[in-house]
Amino acid sequence: MEIEKYMAEAKQQVDCCLDELLAKEAQEPPTIHRAMRYSVFAGGKRVRPILVLAAGESVGGARRVLLPLACAIEMIHTYSLIHDDLPALDNDDLRRGVPTCHKVFGEAMAILAGDSLMTRCYQILTELPDVSGATRLAIVREISYATGTIDGMIGGQVVDLESEGKDIGPETLEYIHRAKTGALLAACARCGGLAGAADTRQMEALSAYGRSIGLAFQIVDDILDVTSSTKDLGKTAGKDQKMKKATYPALYGVEASRRKARELTNAAIETAREIGPRAEPLLGIAQFILRRTA
Ligand code: IPE
Ligand code: IPE
Ligand code: MG
Ligand code: MG
Ligand code: MG
Repeated sequence: MEIEKYMAEAKQQVDCCLDELLAKEAQEPPTIHRAMRYSVFAGGKRVRPILVLAAGESVGGARRVLLPLACAIEMIHTYSLIHDDLPALDNDDLRRGVPTCHKVFGEAMAILAGDSLMTRCYQILTELPDVSGATRLAIVREISYATGTIDGMIGGQVVDLESEGKDIGPETLEYIHRAKTGALLAACARCGGLAGAADTRQMEALSAYGRSIGLAFQIVDDILDVTSSTKDLGKTAGKDQKMKKATYPALYGVEASRRKARELTNAAIETAREIGPRAEPLLGIAQFILRRTA
């Protein structure tokens, strides 16, 4: 199946499952449920949940089992976007083509919407159907560490913020990108593997694949901030330079950054091939991450 079709179909199923898993807007207290839904359904490419499905299916996992896991991770990702956009962090007005959560609901409610999407993620994980208690625990561990302070998302966000306006070296830059963005993407591949009962060799391949596309994803995000438009991105273009963020284009230039992203993508594709024919969508997703325009 072509990757566009695979991704479109998966996205539709993810959106449908997200709708089932999130409280309705009318649920008391309605403001928080409206804010959560506003940001989750504002759009988004759904790369992380699609990755969970593709990784799980590459080792024989069933989509029905993988879908709630995929949606739980999209919730944690959306939380990270809401908080990333807050005035105290990146201070952004536009996200997924619409005003940011705090612009619409106010800062207090945006902070709580982020908190509650993270909480909802873990509620769902404890209730994952058709996986053993041990697997559930392994998945919770995976996601909590990937988003934590040590080599995880929050650690990366801290160093990202503290590096604004500073001359940082290649090692710190790679740390920021691997931690703030790469870790969660790698966790998507690994959690898919865990839910699909991957063996040790398959888990190693999924981990290596996830690490490569995880770093590539943030390098491409940096490149698009320079080369794309606010309209196409659905978020304010040129923002990184304005905030003097530590980015790959700022340190290496756009061309060298593209080369780096391409190398990582090729490495990811090689690794995914080792898993076998069922891993085909993982190859397409790696290409998508490299070639995307938003
Ligand atoms: C944006 O992620 C934040 C980063 C980690 C770079 P995406 O580019 O996946 O954003 P959505 O989910 O499609 O809106
Ligand atoms: C965000 O990185 C990483 C997160 C953990 C959300 P960016 O700050 O570069 O993401 P965008 O460009 O605002 O989407
Ligand atoms: Mg940021
Ligand atoms: Mg940002
Ligand atoms: Mg960015």
